[in-house]
Amino acid sequence: MKTHQAWRLGMKDMQVLPAPRQRGQLKKPTWIIVLISLISLFLVCAYVYPPHNSAACYVFSSNSCEVIQSWLPPAPARELTDNEIASRVVIRDVLNMPPTLSLSPKIAFLFLTPGALPFEKLWDKFFQGHEGRFSVYVHASKDKPVHFSRYFINREIRSDKVVWGKISMVDAERRLLANALKDPDNQHFILLSDSCIPLRDFDYVYNYLMYTNISFVDCFEDPGPHGSGRYTEHMLPEVEKKDFRKGAQWFTMKRQHALIVMADSLYYTKFRDYCKPGMEGRINCYSDEHYLPTFFYMLDPAGIANWSVTNVDWSEGKWHPRSYTAKDISLGLMRNISSILESVHVTSDERKEVQIRPCLWNGYQRPCYLFARKFLPDTLDNLMQLFPNYTSI
Ligand SMILES: *[C@@H]1O[C@H](CO)[C@@H](O)[C@H](O)[C@H]1NC(C)=O
Ligand SMILES: *[C@@H]1O[C@H](CO)[C@@H](O)[C@H](O)[C@H]1NC(C)=O
Ligand SMILES: *[C@@H]1O[C@H](CO)[C@@H](O)[C@H](O)[C@H]1NC(C)=O
Ligand SMILES: *[C@@H]1O[C@H](CO)[C@@H](O)[C@H](O)[C@H]1NC(C)=O
Repeated sequence: MKTHQAWRLGMKDMQVLPAPRQRGQLKKPTWIIVLISLISLFLVCAYVYPPHNSAACYVFSSNSCEVIQSWLPPAPARELTDNEIASRVVIRDVLNMPPTLSLSPKIAFLFLTPGALPFEKLWDKFFQGHEGRFSVYVHASKDKPVHFSRYFINREIRSDKVVWGKISMVDAERRLLANALKDPDNQHFILLSDSCIPLRDFDYVYNYLMYTNISFVDCFEDPGPHGSGRYTEHMLPEVEKKDFRKGAQWFTMKRQHALIVMADSLYYTKFRDYCKPGMEGRINCYSDEHYLPTFFYMLDPAGIANWSVTNVDWSEGKWHPRSYTAKDISLGLMRNISSILESVHVTSDERKEVQIRPCLWNGYQRPCYLFARKFLPDTLDNLMQLFPNYTSI
C-alpha cells in the first residue's frame, strides 16, 4: 500500500544521507511526526467522509479503498425526512394488509391510447364468454374512439392530453388506476397500448395474473446514458443514484401496488420535477420509464417480477422497437414470441451488457409473455384468423 511505500522510500532516503551531524539527527523525529500527522489526518478525513463517496477513494486505488472501508465503522444511515417517514408507514401498512377478498375477482384492462383502438375486434374475441371476470377502461388522450365491441362502449374515463415522455403519461396511468380501483372486485390491473395484442386466451391470462402475489413491473439497473445517465442530484435525498432504475412502461399490478401508487406523492413529485425531457438543458429523462421501476425497487423489490409481460422486439437496435406489419404475421412468429422463457435487458453503455434471466412464475420457469406490441393496424385480419391457433398451444 501507498503508506508502506512511503515508509520504505523514507528509509532509503535516510540511508543516503551523509553521516549524522547535529542538524541531521533533528530531522528524523520531525519526519516521523509529519508522517504520523498525515496518516491521522487521512483517517479523520476518511471517517468524516465515508469512503464510498470520499476523495480518499480517488487518491488511493479501489483495492486499498475497500481495505480502508473495512477498518471504519459503517456509514450512519441517513435520517429520513418527515415526508419519507409518513410515506413509508402508509406503504408498509398497505403492503402488509391481507388482500381484500372478493367473491367475483376481476382483472382490469387499462387501455392508454391517443384515439381509436385498432385491435378492438381481436380483444372482443379474447373477452367473449368471460363476462364478470374482467373490466375495461379506456383513456383516449386525443380523439374519442368509435367503438365496435360491446365490451368497450361507454368504458372511457375522463381523459387529458398526453405528451410523449412527459409526466402527463404517468398522470394518465394514475388516472386509469384510480378509476379502476373504484370497483372493489378489480384485483389486478393491466396497462395496455393501442398497439398491444393478446398472445394467450383469457383463462391463461387470468390464471397467470391472479394466482401469483407479485406485480409484473419491468425493472433493471442500466449504468449507461439511457439509464443512470438520466439521473440528476436534484432528486436527493429521497432518490439516490444507486436506486435509480429503468423499465418498460407496460405493467401489470396487484391491487395493493395500485393503492401505494395512488398514495404516493413524495416520489411522484420528485420525478415530475426532475425527470423530464431537457433537464438542465441536456438530460432527457422520461418519468414513464423510471418512476415506477425506481419506486418499486426502493419500496417493495421482492414484490415485482422485474420483467414486463408485454413483449416488444428491440433487437433491431433502433430508436423505436420493431413494428409488425401484415406480411410479418404468421403462426411461426406468434408461437416464437409466446414460447420465450427468458427476459433480456441490455445496458446502454459501451459494454452493452446483456442481462438474461429465466422468467419464474411462483418459482417455476414459464413463458414470459401474455401480450405483445407493436402491431400495425393492417395486421388485424391475419391476427383474427390465427388467434385460435396460436392461443391453443
Ligand atoms: C408470495 O407468496 C410466497 C408463497 O407463495 C411467499 O413466500 C412470498 O413471500 C410472497 N411474496 C410477497 C411479495 O408477498
Ligand atoms: C427483482 O429484483 C429484486 C432486486 O432488484 C429482487 O430482490 C427480487 O427478488 C426480484 N424479483 C423476483 C420475483 O425475483
Ligand atoms: C422463429 O424462431 C426460430 C428460431 O429462433 C427462427 O429460426 C425463425 O425464423 C422464427 N420464425 C419467425 C416466423 O419469426
Ligand atoms: C388453424 O386451426 C384451424 C382449426 O384447427 C385449422 O383448420 C387451420 O388450418 C389452422 N391454421 C393454420 C395456419 O395452421
